[in-house]
Amino acid sequence: MKILAFETTCDETSAAVLKGRSLLSNRVHSQIKLHCKYNGVVPELASRAHLEKIPYVLGGALKAAGSRVPLRRGSFDAVAFSRGPGLPGALMVGRVAAEAAAELSGSPLIGVSHLEGHLLACEFKNGKVARPLEFPLLALIVSGGHTEIWHARGYGEYKVLGRTRDDAAGEAFDKVAKLLGLPYPGGPAVEKEAALARGAGPVFPKPFMEGTWDFSFSGLKTAVSYYLAGRLGQDFYKRGRRLPPADRARVCRAFQDSAVETLVKKAVDAARSLGLKRIAVGGGVSSNSALRAAFGRLEGFEVRFSEKAYCSDNAAMIALCAMRRFEAGKFRNSLKVSPNLDAPGW
Ligand code: KG4
Ligand code: ZN
Repeated sequence: MKILAFETTCDETSAAVLKGRSLLSNRVHSQIKLHCKYNGVVPELASRAHLEKIPYVLGGALKAAGSRVPLRRGSFDAVAFSRGPGLPGALMVGRVAAEAAAELSGSPLIGVSHLEGHLLACEFKNGKVARPLEFPLLALIVSGGHTEIWHARGYGEYKVLGRTRDDAAGEAFDKVAKLLGLPYPGGPAVEKEAALARGAGPVFPKPFMEGTWDFSFSGLKTAVSYYLAGRLGQDFYKRGRRLPPADRARVCRAFQDSAVETLVKKAVDAARSLGLKRIAVGGGVSSNSALRAAFGRLEGFEVRFSEKAYCSDNAAMIALCAMRRFEAGKFRNSLKVSPNLDAPGW
């Protein structure tokens, strides 16, 4: 079975080819350079950049996979794309590309959930689908736009237990980085700074939100901005006043500690209450070393992460979701994009 997949939900344009259990190619073009001067993704620019880059990304993926170009009947058994959640214009670019490829290849078009992709990315090892997930498990999806916990009973059987009520975890990293004058995307920048922190520093609240599996990270971000206003003055942001580097590192460590502790505690509490012993963590934030280390210290749970190369957005994970659905025979020839897709199940 050979699947061609596209990913264009946000600021990565990606195409991948999966054959059987082997990933033949996974080309990713990141738009970070385009968006970093705005400290966040500008949707219109993202759509245009997807349009501009997708032919090259597709060409690269096909060439690396040794696929015949141009596509012809039977080139692929299925063509897949992320149908949501994501930026509407960006999603449309991936859909149109996938639709055209499916038409040429005479194969079904499978629209999958981007968030399910982040979960299934845990199955890749050294370019192969070599570590199938074992169910049931507790899934924690932590990306730039989403923070969710699911009870996963099997492929396609996901019940959303909780999600963020305001900022996603990655968004909080990005916003705190912006407050501190660090570059976009904020997650890797904050992680790097936090690793440099020495000595005592501030302590920020941990938004555990007892009694619900939902998350809320905006208060934590606000606590950081109050701390900075206390140190630098209310107008610190407008005036571009910054903390000395040693203090900035301590703020990053304190923020990261609070975010990580909150994510781990909520996932563990939810897993315990459902009697689950397995946890799988996916999404851009899951590449954070402090988060990985905190989960690694847990006893009594088997915790899975994807390899770092597959934590951020990529089409390989989309191909894998489509492969699971294709094998189960559970897909409709689906053309619709769904920017707010909130039901990741099949
Ligand atoms: O999953 P992803 O690539 O895109 C979305 O689906 O949103 O996640 C991107 C997010 C960004 O907010 C980025 O700052 C965050 O993941 N991120 C990290 C790290 N690497 C990326 N957050 C914390 N620590 C990291 N090392
Ligand atoms: Zn993502």
